[in-house]
Amino acid sequence: MFEIDSAQEKISPAARSSWWQRWSLRRKIIIGATLLLVIIALAVGLGVGLTIAGSEDEAPGDNGTAPPPVSPNGTIPAGIWKPVAGTTWNYEILRPVGEVSADAEVWDIDLFNNNETVINSIQAAGRKVLCYFSAGSYEDWRPDKDEFQESDLGNDLVGWEGEKWLNTRSDNVRRIMQARLDMAAQKRCDGVEPDNVDAYDNDNGLGLSEADAQDYVTFLANEAHSRNLSLALKNAGNIVPAVIDIVEYSVQEQCIQYNNCNQFMPFIQANKPVFHVEYPKGDDINNNNLIAMDAEESICDSSAAAGFSTIIKNMDLDDWIQPCPTNQTYSGN
Ligand SMILES: *[C@@H]1O[C@H](CO)[C@@H](O)[C@H](O)[C@H]1NC(C)=O
Ligand SMILES: *[C@@H]1O[C@H](CO)[C@@H](O)[C@H](O)[C@H]1NC(C)=O
Ligand SMILES: *[C@@H]1O[C@H](CO)[C@@H](O)[C@H](O)[C@H]1NC(C)=O
Ligand SMILES: *[C@@H]1O[C@H](CO)[C@@H](O)[C@H](O)[C@H]1NC(C)=O
Ligand SMILES: *[C@@H]1O[C@H](CO)[C@@H](O)[C@H](O)[C@H]1NC(C)=O
Repeated sequence: MFEIDSAQEKISPAARSSWWQRWSLRRKIIIGATLLLVIIALAVGLGVGLTIAGSEDEAPGDNGTAPPPVSPNGTIPAGIWKPVAGTTWNYEILRPVGEVSADAEVWDIDLFNNNETVINSIQAAGRKVLCYFSAGSYEDWRPDKDEFQESDLGNDLVGWEGEKWLNTRSDNVRRIMQARLDMAAQKRCDGVEPDNVDAYDNDNGLGLSEADAQDYVTFLANEAHSRNLSLALKNAGNIVPAVIDIVEYSVQEQCIQYNNCNQFMPFIQANKPVFHVEYPKGDDINNNNLIAMDAEESICDSSAAAGFSTIIKNMDLDDWIQPCPTNQTYSGN
């Protein structure tokens, strides 16, 4: 409407009356109807524009510093790392990575505890680096822990000392996660593994549902992809159908133990890896002993996990690994 008014101002009143009087009624009706349509189209366009601008203003944690998502419509940019099903991996997040001895194509390591030099050296050996951080829990030892607000925190994570569920709807939480993704991009991780996005499956104390998890993974996907980072869906089997198109792989614990490997099969069908770990030694035993051959076979030959990238680890995720199948070398350094 604004544009039409200003265009008409350029025509003098005298000129307007003379051409208007010369037109037939039929022509006036057609022109009038056309103008009306243009006005409606502009009004609708303006409304949509305002809606989009409004939702961007309200985007969680966006105070003008975060880069805008490259692909707000969910398109995954070309060039992002997209491994195929069957890619081998190692999972080592307890300590900074020292010697890179296990022969795995992908190293999933802690984002905070490993610097760019270490990440570079893993990549220089032809491997890809997946950086772990907790996106859904507060950890009382992280350097950015003081940025969380009391209202961001829910119940304790059962069995994980010093961790509490996070309100993943919180703008403040999302802003902190944007900063962690900035760190992952600065350190040149190839992808990220944001843990604890399955609060809905736990007594989180914040009322977080599966719909919240889907929304949060969508947020993480846009934020990761816009930084050229690919993204894991960590566990969260219930939301696989909802988010499989916007994540590049699964990182998955204990599906043989919990008998839910079928939830992750859609990844294999889409030729995306399921980086799968089992902890047959249980919660408390972390040592360098190989597990018995029959126990190994019941994991590695499991048809439930056919096509998965399966490894056997200590639950503390130290550097001990017993990979399957056996083209990879054993490592207990
Ligand atoms: C963005 O928000 C964070 C946390 O609230 C703050 O530390 C930072 O200074 C803000 N940046 C700007 C440009 O407002
Ligand atoms: C999504 O956005 C990208 C980049 O802006 C664009 O190239 C692509 O065509 C869009 N896809 C759809 C389905 O709108
Ligand atoms: C990076 O980490 C490694 C191993 O922890 C350490 O030896 C090295 O000094 C660190 N480099 C920098 C630049 O901090
Ligand atoms: C994007 O990530 C891929 C895989 O990690 C890397 O090979 C590529 O160089 C990156 N592109 C840019 C523009 O950084
Ligand atoms: C494993 O090793 C066998 C024998 O050397 C070889 O034929 C096969 O291609 C290897 N598989 C993988 C996944 O590397």
